[in-house]
Amino acid sequence: MMKGVSFLVTVAILALASSIASAYDPSPLQDFCVAINDIKSGEFVNGKFCKDHAMVSANDFFFFGINITRSIGNKVGSNVTLVNVDKLAGLNTLGISLARLDFAPYGLNPPHTHPRGTELLVVIEGETAALAFTGLSSQNPGVITIANAVFGSVPPINPNVLIKAFQLDNNVVEYLQRAFTPN
Ligand SMILES: *[C@@H]1O[C@H](CO)[C@@H](O)[C@H](O)[C@H]1NC(C)=O
Ligand SMILES: *[C@@H]1O[C@H](CO)[C@@H](O)[C@H](O)[C@H]1NC(C)=O
Repeated sequence: MMKGVSFLVTVAILALASSIASAYDPSPLQDFCVAINDIKSGEFVNGKFCKDHAMVSANDFFFFGINITRSIGNKVGSNVTLVNVDKLAGLNTLGISLARLDFAPYGLNPPHTHPRGTELLVVIEGETAALAFTGLSSQNPGVITIANAVFGSVPPINPNVLIKAFQLDNNVVEYLQRAFTPN
């Protein structure tokens, strides 16, 4: 009998000591929160400040020019038009952004990661020049382009570290650091 009671007490204490944990983004508290930079005329929820909801218009949810072909005459042969919260204020707190990618023949989008987003990519056209659209699971997914981050960081990573880490010749590291360091 005592054993049964102490078992029940133990279960009760464990139940009280545990709590519910969730591992996904909390839902926004509002339908929309158009981002503004001027905090004087805004309402603050989280992330960016919200425009006064009485002043919100359809234009806050409109991005002009996603249908316009971008120039692709650069070294990598691609041009990314990212539409994140900085370009389309209505995306604030909605957890989504998108991008248009124009590719030259044999062009590429260099290896990169998005620290705050998962990405889905759809290729619309192919063969000679290609067009793709992506959707990202963040209003501001961020981007780290590997080659630029490694060889073009400012201040630079010590060449001796790069020589050993990438098993490269000193001359190659110097060449790559020159190629990727922003002017
Ligand atoms: C892009 O769409 C706009 C309408 O939003 C239209 O006026 C324009 O002609 C289109 N441009 C191209 C290149 O299709
Ligand atoms: C992308 O295209 C736009 C418009 O055509 C151009 O102004 C911009 O310089 C291009 N960016 C790159 C990286 O080529």
